[in-house]
Amino acid sequence: MKQFIKILFLFVTCSTFAQPRLKTFKPGEIWPDNNGVHINAHGGGFLYYNETYYWFGEHKISGELGNRAMVGIHAYSSKDLYNWKDEGIVLKMHEDTISMFQKGCTLERPKVVYNKKNKKFVMWFHHELKGQSYQSALAGIAVSDYVTGPFKYITSFRLHPNSLPTNFSTEQLENAELVDNVKDEKNKQKIIGGAYFKRDYEMGQMSRDMTIFVDEDDTAYHITASEENQTLLISKLSDDYLSLTKEFIRIFPGGRNEAPAIFKKGNHYFMFTSDLTGWKPNPARLAVSKSIMGEWEFVGNPCRGDREEKNNTFWSQSTFVIPVYGKKDAFIFAADRWRPENPIDGSYVWLPIKFKNNLPFLEWKDSWNLSIFKK
Ligand code: DGJ
Repeated sequence: MKQFIKILFLFVTCSTFAQPRLKTFKPGEIWPDNNGVHINAHGGGFLYYNETYYWFGEHKISGELGNRAMVGIHAYSSKDLYNWKDEGIVLKMHEDTISMFQKGCTLERPKVVYNKKNKKFVMWFHHELKGQSYQSALAGIAVSDYVTGPFKYITSFRLHPNSLPTNFSTEQLENAELVDNVKDEKNKQKIIGGAYFKRDYEMGQMSRDMTIFVDEDDTAYHITASEENQTLLISKLSDDYLSLTKEFIRIFPGGRNEAPAIFKKGNHYFMFTSDLTGWKPNPARLAVSKSIMGEWEFVGNPCRGDREEKNNTFWSQSTFVIPVYGKKDAFIFAADRWRPENPIDGSYVWLPIKFKNNLPFLEWKDSWNLSIFKK
């Protein structure tokens, strides 16, 4: 009898622990992983692979150094999007002091894509060399054979040296006038005309806040804040996702957009971006286009709510749009609530994307779950 009770106790305890613990999203709150530790994956990117969601993000540490890459990129996995299992550091910083990838450099906004042809997981990220603040403005790549790594750092580079986007002519390049101060309003027209594009033409264009979007036909695109964060560049990736092709466009020149996050619904591509205010929140923006390499148009602030909520995007900045698998037209706006003074405390603001007249909008929810989406 004693033995029976013991087994029954064990069974009840195990099955209780096996139950998923979380059943709702609570935007902005502490989000415990399977070990009860707040998820540490900031500026995240998401991949759905083998019926599992993977979350890759910047591992932050506490204190002043926290915004530098002292550890690497952290991954988590989940079957239901609420409960996340810690998969550890999948890309580790190099210990030596010669590597471009040494501890203390800056790594932001990692995005992982799976290449079906070569069966590789390819991670793209924003990389700033140690001690150079945000001036290097490089795109970096790491690769792995397994979704949970280890990823191997491959290279970092400026984009498209000596190349012109398809929507910018040789004549425009010749006519562009250089400027020396991005903050001087008088320079705005020159920046729109390609001042920084021309400055960086030979050495390659800057790449800061970025994302990767994979289209339905498996073509992937790199979208990044370039030209001193004044202009976005969209570049088509090579078939193996390991480099950029020569095909790229320049959009919203002089528009000052950061934090791009793209998704597609029906025949339209939508892009959330933010304004340019460092770690401080600002009003989000929504752009739409019928073609990813085509004409993009801004359609306003996607946030609904009171003035403060709209002006601060619910105190967050976009990082990714997560398609919910198995549900039609179900997308989650995933954003960061940064805490630059103690970055490890940064939290995550996830909100369901709603639609009115085929345009996405966002509303605050203290707590919500996936039943908000229709089947
Ligand atoms: C805002 C960006 O979106 C972040 O990724 C980071 O680069 C900060 N700016 C740095 O100030």
